[in-house]
This record gives sequence, structure tokens and C-alpha cells, in this order.
Amino acid sequence: MGNLERKKLVIGNWKMHLNASQASLLVHRLQERIESHRDVEVVLAPSHLVLQPLSLQIDRRKFKLAAQNCHWQDEGAFTGEVSATMLHDLVHYVIVGHSERRHIFGETDDMIAKKVASVVRNGITPVLCVGETAEERKAGETKQVLHDQLMVGLKDVTSDDVKGIVIAYEPVWAIGTGHYAKPGQVKEAVGTIRHNIRELYGHVEDDVRVLYGGSVEPDITRGYIEIDGVDGLLVGGASLNYEHFSAIVATVHKTETDEEK
Ligand code: PGA
Repeated sequence: MGNLERKKLVIGNWKMHLNASQASLLVHRLQERIESHRDVEVVLAPSHLVLQPLSLQIDRRKFKLAAQNCHWQDEGAFTGEVSATMLHDLVHYVIVGHSERRHIFGETDDMIAKKVASVVRNGITPVLCVGETAEERKAGETKQVLHDQLMVGLKDVTSDDVKGIVIAYEPVWAIGTGHYAKPGQVKEAVGTIRHNIRELYGHVEDDVRVLYGGSVEPDITRGYIEIDGVDGLLVGGASLNYEHFSAIVATVHKTETDEEK
């Protein structure tokens, strides 16, 4: 499958924002503004708490849902956790290994590998986040960090299961900071990710969608989505603003339409 045939994917990661009524209002506003597009899949990742009501509210032709995290066991004595088994009926995707999970909550590559495996086992698509810190980039370690995060994170995923999964390249220094990664840096990192997938699985790297995330805003969306090998965007802050998020989706759609001409 060539790059152009992979449907573009835009995920809004709401993080720990919005109570039930605020979340419902945001969905209402997004539904008014976002059209259903054949070439763009739009996914909302609210808190676990509102997945259930939003699953009843969303227009499924326009939106899918994602969870922001899950535990690696299907059930058990894990106070405060939610399993992929519990999410199975509600979401199409689970974000795994977001840098905030890694750096604030101490998630290791081994924990992330178990989470990825549990998401796949439960018939959900993982969105595995990888990316280097500012120090790692400065030390010239970006390629090695991406390699290690992918090799361990995907160690229990078979070549059949890897088809269709999503990898998000999110340089930690660009998340929530307004420090914009340069297109050349993103292109190189995405190339490294595809190279690693090819090393692990053979040629299936073309079946894996690779997203970019980190301070994505409407006016810089086109610059990122046009990068060779980038199949979509993981949007944090801007996804909480209905005008910004719908503008990002519209730009991705427009870029695709222009490419088809
Ligand atoms: P940001 O977050 O767009 O606010 O930088 C991106 C993310 O954390 O996925």
C-alpha cells in the first residue's frame, strides 16, 4: 500500500480536561463544523469518564473514539485502572506510551510493550507514542531512542498484528511547549520509524500509519501533513478549541484533495 492510499488520521488528545457537560458541548460544536470526509479519519480521545456518554452522542460517520491509556491486564486488583477489555466496546484506538505517561507516571518501555499487546489482544488499535527529549536530541541520540522505544514497545506484536497500527512521533520538547519541530526533523524521525518497522517486520512499514504530534496548530498543519511519510496528526492543546480543531481537520482534507488533483 503506498503512502497516498493510507487514510489520513487526526486524533484530538483532550488529556485531563473537560467534565461531562464541557465534553458534550465540544462534541456538539465539532459536529456542526466537521464534515465526514472519505479521506480523513477524525478521532477524539477524551477522559475515560466521558467515553460512554460520548459514544452515544457522536455521529459515527464523523468521529471515532480513543482512550488515552489503559492497563496491560484484562482485569484484576489494580485500583484506579481501566483495561482494554473494558474499553473494547467503546473505542477504536488506545493511545499508549504518551510522553506524559512515560515521564510523569514512570511508564517504562516494558510496561508499554505489555499495554500495546493487551490493546491488540482486545481487538483495538494501539497508537504507540515515541519521541526523544531535548537532552537526547542535543546528545545526538534521537535515532537510538526511537529504535529502542519501537523495538521494546512492539516486541509482542506479530507481523500480522502490526498491520494497521499507528505510531505517533512526538518529540517531547515540542509537546505543549509551542516549540515547533522543523519539517526536516520530522521527516528524518518518521523515516527512522519506518526503517525500524521494516527491520522488525519486513515490508509492512507501508501498512503502518505514522502521525506527528507536538504543538500542532491550524496555521502549521499543512506544513506537517505534507511531509513525506506523515499520515496524520496527534493534536493536544488545539483539540480543545472547536475552531482550531475543525480548521486542522479541514486543512488535512484540503491538502489531500489538492494532492489528488
Ligand atoms: P500539544 O500536545 O499539541 O498540546 O503539544 C500533543 C500531545 O501531547 O499529543
